[in-house]
Amino acid sequence: MRKDPLTGKKIIFGVTGCIAAYKSALLIRDLIKRGAEVKVVMTPAATQFITPLTLSSLSNNNVVVNIFPESTAGNTGMATWHIDMTRWADLILIAPSTINTIAKIAYGFADNALTTLVSASRSPVIIAPAADVDMYENPLNQNNISKLESLGFYIVSAEEGELASGLSGIGRLAESNKIIDAVELILTGYKKDLFNEKILITAGPTYEDIDPVRFIGNRSSGKMGYALAKSAYLRGADVTLISGPSSETAYQEINYVPVRTASEMKKVVVREMKKNQFLIMTAAVADFKPVRVSPGKIKKSNRLKEIKISETQDILTSFNRENKIVVGFALETNNELANAKRKLKEKQLDMIVLNSLKDKRSGFEFETNKVMILKKNGKTIKLPLQSKFQIANKILSELI
Ligand code: CTP
Repeated sequence: MRKDPLTGKKIIFGVTGCIAAYKSALLIRDLIKRGAEVKVVMTPAATQFITPLTLSSLSNNNVVVNIFPESTAGNTGMATWHIDMTRWADLILIAPSTINTIAKIAYGFADNALTTLVSASRSPVIIAPAADVDMYENPLNQNNISKLESLGFYIVSAEEGELASGLSGIGRLAESNKIIDAVELILTGYKKDLFNEKILITAGPTYEDIDPVRFIGNRSSGKMGYALAKSAYLRGADVTLISGPSSETAYQEINYVPVRTASEMKKVVVREMKKNQFLIMTAAVADFKPVRVSPGKIKKSNRLKEIKISETQDILTSFNRENKIVVGFALETNNELANAKRKLKEKQLDMIVLNSLKDKRSGFEFETNKVMILKKNGKTIKLPLQSKFQIANKILSELI
């Protein structure tokens, strides 16, 4: 198993002065748990919301607040501490970032420890803004965010929801898991390279009802499809996720369409493929369905002997494929490679991702996967056991 991509990575964690500053404590704890080294830098305003002592205890490092080393919080005693610290870091993450700090960075200010570090940085910078809705949507702030994005800063946009003011709207700090996913994405060398791409992903199992209580289903958890949707969104794509029953959750910004049966999934795929250029079919679509769904619960006393079944329609081959790029998945237990090659050809796919149920910690329900990618041009790529998120990143790179 590959080690966690965050292991040993050095992160400068910037915290600025807004109510969401308390969430930085949880983010720091998560990064440390994943094996990263974290040094926290707070703006003076951030210390009004959470104490340096808290963040120092969680990060196992001194917290920098003041820009000048002779201050009590300074820890290097050198005039060039900011250069040393930026050279140390693989990444700077600012979460939460106020609109004030965003504006300062956008205009090149270096008036506190954090903005000074950013100005001297050679490493990538991720900014996760948080503000009340009107502050966040203020055109000046939006312009500053766009400017930073165009300069190569990675922005994890604020989310919609209830805000500290009691108002509701966009401005809430992005969910912690999304910020950590963005950290992983950047630290493993990916960027927003799918801007303006419209990608449709299917995930999970489908359920074919027998009666109001029972169904024919399969063990798919949806994890691979949800990981692909996350990766595609973080890389800038416009993502639609059609999901069968799954306990996974998608990011708020992903267009989410829940379905239950194969025919429901087919209907939505056909509709959505008029708008999308890519289709990644990770869904484990049921191949069989009961001919008749009983409207009432079938009682034991009915002495049911058989359930008549018919085949579901193949979704991958049921829409106009002109100018579309289509990826299928194949989960096999025997003759894996031969079956995957046959499906690649028969279903006229651009790429097929092969999973073998013989591989340990791979396939249904696991967080990890080991796959082989087979392309239409005959190229094959073997990916060793790693997280489904990392596999998703690699699949998307092959697609590009
Ligand atoms: N698929 C589909 N529609 C179906 C069944 C499968 O679009 N009714 C897609 C799956 O989402 C997957 C690919 O076809 O991307 C291969 O699915 P798989 O179940 O491995 O193959 P099947 O064609 O169903 O063949 P078999 O079950 O016999 O292996």
